Amino acid sequence: MRVAVLVSGRGSNLQSLLDAAAASRLGPARLVLVVSDRVGAPALARASAAGVATRVVPFVEFAAREDFDRALVAALAEAGAELVVLAGFLRRLGADFVAAFRGRAVNVHPSLLPAFPGLGAQAQALAAGVRVSGATVHFVDEGLDSGPIVGQRAVTVFDHDSPATLAARILIEEHWLLPRVVCALAEGRVRVEAGRVRVDGGLG
Ligand code: GRF
Repeated sequence: MRVAVLVSGRGSNLQSLLDAAAASRLGPARLVLVVSDRVGAPALARASAAGVATRVVPFVEFAAREDFDRALVAALAEAGAELVVLAGFLRRLGADFVAAFRGRAVNVHPSLLPAFPGLGAQAQALAAGVRVSGATVHFVDEGLDSGPIVGQRAVTVFDHDSPATLAARILIEEHWLLPRVVCALAEGRVRVEAGRVRVDGGLG
């Protein structure tokens, strides 16, 4: 299965996928393209170092979000992408993208959705005083971090946590979860029934 990864910045989740691929832990998934919406995203260097093709579709150069979406979908189609992974991709995608990749695009988010969607999820969790937070991988739909949930991992929130310390602990779980979800998807073990996701054999 041909997999494309969308990134905006650091790329540690991308790295978890690159490492899993190198260790033959992604099943039949092949990372064929990494696309950034920003020039110079550090994630692009990680992809290049691993020999994965990169492209930049620079959001700031498009007059309208719809034009950006169309260019992104065209780049993904050109690469023959069958599955799209949003790994630290910090832009909301519109109807064109969702229509093209419904059920074939997943996003990793640093909270236990549906709690704390959007930016600053760790700070939102601290402000709400929750004792448990975590990481979620979900299908992408029209909403904000709202699609069917494929997998979650929980972490304890400590009294002394800052957004940064909580983010670091959640990130470890993101890195655990994302490659396992991609592997399960590539192996055809994931299905959505009435908005709930079933993973045959679980995530490991
Ligand atoms: C991750 O916490 C991801 O969940 C969030 O942004 C962060 C990106 O980290 N959307 P990285 O670029 O994968 O290192």
